[in-house]
Amino acid sequence: MDVKKIFLPESEMPRQWYNIMADMPTPMEPPLHPGTGEPVGPDALAPIFPMNLIEQEVSTERWIDIPEPILEKYVIWRPSPLYRAYNLEKYLDTPAKIYFKNEGVSPAGSHKPNTAIAQAYYNKVAGTKRITTETGAGQWGSALSMCCAFFGLECKVFMVKVSYNQKPYRRLMMETWGANCTASPSTETKAGQSILEKHPDSPGSLGIAISEAVEAAVGDEHSKYALGSVLNHVMLHQTINGLECQKQMEIAGDYPDVVIGCAGGGSNFAGNCLPYVRDKIHGKEIDIIGVEPASCPTMTRGPFAYDFGDTVQMTPLLAMYTLGHDFVPEPIHAGGLRYHGMAPIISQLILDNLIRPEAIAQLETFEAGITFARTEGFISAPETNHAVAMVIREALKAKEEGKEKVILFNWSGHGLVDLAAYEAYLRGQLQDHALPEDEIQRALSAIDSLPKPKQYRPPR
Ligand SMILES: Cc1ncc(COP(=O)(O)O)c(C=O)c1O
Repeated sequence: MDVKKIFLPESEMPRQWYNIMADMPTPMEPPLHPGTGEPVGPDALAPIFPMNLIEQEVSTERWIDIPEPILEKYVIWRPSPLYRAYNLEKYLDTPAKIYFKNEGVSPAGSHKPNTAIAQAYYNKVAGTKRITTETGAGQWGSALSMCCAFFGLECKVFMVKVSYNQKPYRRLMMETWGANCTASPSTETKAGQSILEKHPDSPGSLGIAISEAVEAAVGDEHSKYALGSVLNHVMLHQTINGLECQKQMEIAGDYPDVVIGCAGGGSNFAGNCLPYVRDKIHGKEIDIIGVEPASCPTMTRGPFAYDFGDTVQMTPLLAMYTLGHDFVPEPIHAGGLRYHGMAPIISQLILDNLIRPEAIAQLETFEAGITFARTEGFISAPETNHAVAMVIREALKAKEEGKEKVILFNWSGHGLVDLAAYEAYLRGQLQDHALPEDEIQRALSAIDSLPKPKQYRPPR
């Protein structure tokens, strides 16, 4: 019998995170103050984040030590196993070898605790009493709730309304870990009230929920805000995944030709692929593919521009691929991929042709998820199904070309709390949402008057 799972012993778990900022071929464009258009210094972020995390946000040190109290929590589920998907390979009758890194084994069910533990720890050390945040599908909110419980912090979560209604069990997980969870837009903040005045039936969006969570943090001296994706320090914390994965692939005796991840704000994809991006910068040939929903095509149809991270324009301007901060995607089930922007690090790596974006529509992703479940057994989160669908496309391409490619993908989370989405698919109630060009143009008009980055790119 061939080896199916590659485990690393706890003693082999990486003790440092990898910071791609040290190796980026093109320097990143700085965040800007929306009023002055000038680059913002670390101090401008101080009302929102603790200084120790702000230091990581701007750090260009290649390796950053992981503090012992974080390692002690990581070992609850880390190192996560790397699997060879023999059954899927056989089903697809492909010469490709398919590997997946299983991040669904964390107690919260996804990759999100990799940064939630770090953010809760650094906040605790900095004296924060309460952390506020947003969540889409609830994966991030539940991960942060658990990690706040570990470090004795209060946790307040604004959950995008459509997901709050679709996924009651995620809310209950948050409450079990001691957090307080509110549907967003809510009446608890001015940001929420202003949206509800204009759109009483708003399904919510990550951009709106971020506005609410930031407002709730800056209005209270004991509170800070935590973001589950997009920012540099989040990408940094997630690299523990890719660093483990490189050791495991070495044990397997293979090196990937293709690396795939789904991308909402970019963090699980970054966590797995950034160590491979480093290899690519140093000459390796790898196709590194980030997959987004066709109904929220930030990387494939948006411009590279300056935009706010949130809807109500409270955050600094970030240079990134964006659909405009008031873009509200269709209520697809992959709630964690319904974000108007993309991590500045991932965006810059796309500009530098180190990462290739692709978009896939909802039905194909669920079909892929069903195939994966019926071959490999695991039921993927709807977000993760975007990666699975791309893997299947690449494996079938390898078959057509007769190439024995090695495909690695990040299995970012399980879908056991997303079964209502599977029910809708299985009952034939899901559809693909075409996104008209007019709607993209309308949303983009919101960023027309903002400063343009030096490397500005119009929508493709
Ligand atoms: C399982 C899973 N995968 C992927 C994502 C997308 O986020 P990111 O692009 O930051 O990894 C989410 C977000 O909620 C998620 O829950």
